[in-house]
Amino acid sequence: MTILHTSRLRLEPLAERHLDGLHEMNRLPEVMRYISGQPETREQTAAAIARAQRCWAAWGTGWWALVERASGRIAGAGCVQYLRKQADLPSALETLQVNPLEIGWRLHPDFWRQGLATEAALRMRDFAFETFDVDELLAVRHPDNEASARVMVRLGMHYRGLESWYGTVVATHALDRRSVSRDTAREP
Ligand SMILES: CC(C)(COP(=O)(O)OP(=O)(O)OC[C@H]1O[C@@H](n2cnc3c(N)ncnc32)[C@H](O)[C@@H]1OP(=O)(O)O)[C@@H](O)C(=O)NCCC(=O)NCCS
Repeated sequence: MTILHTSRLRLEPLAERHLDGLHEMNRLPEVMRYISGQPETREQTAAAIARAQRCWAAWGTGWWALVERASGRIAGAGCVQYLRKQADLPSALETLQVNPLEIGWRLHPDFWRQGLATEAALRMRDFAFETFDVDELLAVRHPDNEASARVMVRLGMHYRGLESWYGTVVATHALDRRSVSRDTAREP
């Protein structure tokens, strides 16, 4: 499991100790509006941590807690993981390794509009391309999620259309490995 750092954040692979901070975020309707549409219960967030731990064990990647270094607070969560067509995580995780990798993020509203999602995403992007032999990274969002679309644009991703992932239709963006070495995107 890989801990990553940026100037303001420490990215820690999800563990039980993150439950309180993650629940503070995932219980908020404005955070989940474009994800599941439903605030999460504490039990659902605990189950998500358990799923993330399975992914880390199977793939060497998964979800991180985004810990603000100055305060120790959990500012959000981010991921590099294999996309899936179905909504639920299958029991045989290795079956997903034929799919593209996605990069994803969410922040507690106390941490919105400070550049932290982009800062974490740039580090996760580098981790993904350094660790996995893939030519591209995808990111998916609800078609109305404009704030997330702006993070994708800041990363240099291009929009490639509506696609079917997670059992629903999502706006899908892609980042080509070759464009990263040329890009000017830097941590804000
Ligand atoms: C998606 C989400 C993470 C985006 O958060 P965000 O705060 O807008 O994105 P960043 O952290 O990268 O911050 C960038 C914004 O902060 C502004 N900003 C302010 N101070 C800044 C600074 N010091 N450095 C960089 N940007 C700064 C930027 O101008 C930018 O605003 P803009 O998008 O209006 O141009 C957030 O809206 C969220 O958590 N939503 C709920 C969960 C969710 O939908 N997740 C995505 C699922 S696909």
